[in-house]
Amino acid sequence: MEHFVKVPTQHIIEDLVSAAFNYKKNPLIDKELGKNKRIGLIFLNPSLRTRLSTQIAASNLGMEAIVLNMDKDGWALEFKDGAIMNGNTIEHIKDAAPILGNYFDILCIRSFPQLKDMIEDNSEYIINSFIRYAGIPIISLESATLHPLQSLTDLFTIKESIQQNSKSFTHKKAKIVLSWAPHIKAIPHCVANSFSQWMLMNNEYDFVITHPKGLELSSIFTKGATIIYNQQEALHSADFVYLKNWSSFNEYGKMIDDNSWLLTNESLKITNQAKIMHCLPMRRNIEICDEVIDSPNSLVQQQAANRVWAAQAVIANILKNNP
Ligand code: CP
Repeated sequence: MEHFVKVPTQHIIEDLVSAAFNYKKNPLIDKELGKNKRIGLIFLNPSLRTRLSTQIAASNLGMEAIVLNMDKDGWALEFKDGAIMNGNTIEHIKDAAPILGNYFDILCIRSFPQLKDMIEDNSEYIINSFIRYAGIPIISLESATLHPLQSLTDLFTIKESIQQNSKSFTHKKAKIVLSWAPHIKAIPHCVANSFSQWMLMNNEYDFVITHPKGLELSSIFTKGATIIYNQQEALHSADFVYLKNWSSFNEYGKMIDDNSWLLTNESLKITNQAKIMHCLPMRRNIEICDEVIDSPNSLVQQQAANRVWAAQAVIANILKNNP
């Protein structure tokens, strides 16, 4: 891979998942691979898991990782070509990105959408500007529409859980349900878009999306998915339930409130004792009840721990392909 900003080909997905399994067994097996190389992690938004897991992954590969919280410590960036910079922006991406390209061997960017202008967010102008001007491999740490490091982790965690419970899946495909969950704020679509994209690309599972009417995700990411508006119907016999809030796509960025979608252990009885997933952070007892997230079926801690192995697989792949 040159960059990792969206779902790669099926062949690369298989390589990444296999590498993640290897790194989980032996984290330091490639500790010389990144020797004398430097990775930059640029954050335009907050993070806990992505930031720390990517730093640990780079360290396991012998790389030096440097973090810049651009939103707090960097100059405000301008992205518009031809801008007359007499406002709040101080430095143009055309000037900043090549410098970062000189300092680092790989550059990672986190930049959330504004959720105000669908066309602007969908253009992915921030991450694409870094690709255009930095001249080095770019890894998305979550962009305006996608969160591929999270989705690789999610796929790896599902495969690991299936291996750990292999008897249950000898005669059937695993059923995976992405269920909308309530929230008190308008939340981006990135995790849900990406999860859908990776599940559909993988094509090994019975994949269902469920959400209230009006909360359809962009068909760019869900084309081919089964969409069921009745949550209980969708959850029937599910083996994995991925809970996630997102705001409206069609009424772009509008928050929709519907607490009847908050799952309890009782409402999950219709599943096949489904494993519960969430990317975190989550608002307890708003998005997910304590009893669900603290149950033995919850995979969220395993999922968060696996972020390291997914990030390590991606960085290693890029190092091997861009010597
Ligand atoms: N899931 C995830 O990306 O977590 P952070 O926002 O804490 O990095």
